Amino acid sequence: MPERLYTDHPELYDAIQSEWDYDRDVSFVTDALDRFNVDGERLLEIGCGTGEHTRRFVAAGFDVTAIDKYDGMLNVAREKCDADFRREALPDLTVEREFDVIVLIRGVLNHLPPQDLQPAIDAIETRLAAGGALVFDNSPLPPDGNHPALAVGTTDQGDYARISQHVATGEGRLDWRSMTVTPDGEFFVDSRLMTPFDDATIADGLDEAGLAVEAVDGYGPGDERTVFVCTQA
Ligand SMILES: C[S@@+](CC[C@H](N)C(=O)[O-])C[C@H]1O[C@@H](n2cnc3c(N)ncnc32)[C@H](O)[C@@H]1O
Repeated sequence: MPERLYTDHPELYDAIQSEWDYDRDVSFVTDALDRFNVDGERLLEIGCGTGEHTRRFVAAGFDVTAIDKYDGMLNVAREKCDADFRREALPDLTVEREFDVIVLIRGVLNHLPPQDLQPAIDAIETRLAAGGALVFDNSPLPPDGNHPALAVGTTDQGDYARISQHVATGEGRLDWRSMTVTPDGEFFVDSRLMTPFDDATIADGLDEAGLAVEAVDGYGPGDERTVFVCTQA
């Protein structure tokens, strides 16, 4: 059963990610907007998940439209703040407005198969207003897969344990397989296809879409993601 953490256990996603520094990511975006003189409040967040970045962008004064592929994640996000939440999935975007800022935070692009990369970048580019900025990251996934690893943690609801492994599919993708024991003693098996993109492939795609790469960075010290900051002419 694919992507069950997103569809069936979104509340566990928040518990597992409770140590994540969402404030740092949002500060990175707002600092980048200052640095490259990007004005405007219309922000589109793609792959908003359970809305932890979303609520911070709303609190910072942005007019946020937030989309995600799964209702499970969106339903958790809707409880947290007042944004325009919509179920949509790249590479198709039906939202018709233009935005001053578009963000995809934490491996959202890596959920796409290789053939959807350019259509997704093109769809994003058409929604980015003149003078606007696109900020997104590329996760450092192991192209050849890795060994199974165990993660255990404590949440408000109790302890959880997860064994996970990236398995190369041979088609340029990774199957992220896991088994999670939830705080209430249930367990579920999950599978998620991810793509380990080269930064150079992404940079070529941005260039083809006419977006200028202004900076390539991490969200903060020790962050291994490649974060692209791009502007629209
Ligand atoms: C690793 S989570 C990150 C969520 C959130 N940005 C965060 O940092 O907590 C990836 C999110 O992307 C969403 N997603 C996956 N494929 C997508 C697609 N094709 N279009 C839009 N969202 C997608 C998933 O449902 C999930 O919520």
